[in-house]
Amino acid sequence: MKSRLQIVLFTLLFVPAALATAADTAHGMTLAQQHCTACHDNGVYTRENRRITTLDGLRTQVRRCELSLGLKWFDEDIDDVTVYLNESFYKF
Ligand code: HEC
Repeated sequence: MKSRLQIVLFTLLFVPAALATAADTAHGMTLAQQHCTACHDNGVYTRENRRITTLDGLRTQVRRCELSLGLKWFDEDIDDVTVYLNESFYKF
């Protein structure tokens, strides 16, 4: 019984927090489709000699490309696009 109570408590306490901070992949995909195909298509994410080798590096590159567009995205937008690119292409 005790362990079941712990699971219930864990679920109540932590799952909503996790959901609230989880990146929104669908939003990331929308942003990327709207803004990120002017200079390169999705092919750069999967090309053989792609430059990005870590999740941190991916986030930095998303920020760099976003800045060159002058979009002024929030950190959450950068996160959403980073997670979308990672889940769809990079898979770090
Ligand atoms: C102003 C042109 C431009 C736009 C718009 C642009 N990028 Fe880029 N992006 C580049 C260039 C240039 C490179 C480097 C290509 C190379 O190294 O050959 C690059 C590379 C990348 C890479 C690394 C690819 C690899 O080698 O692994 C990622 C990730 C990336 N861009 C994401 C984005 C995202 C996300 C957006 C939308 C916010 C975006 N880009 C919009 C110019 C742009």
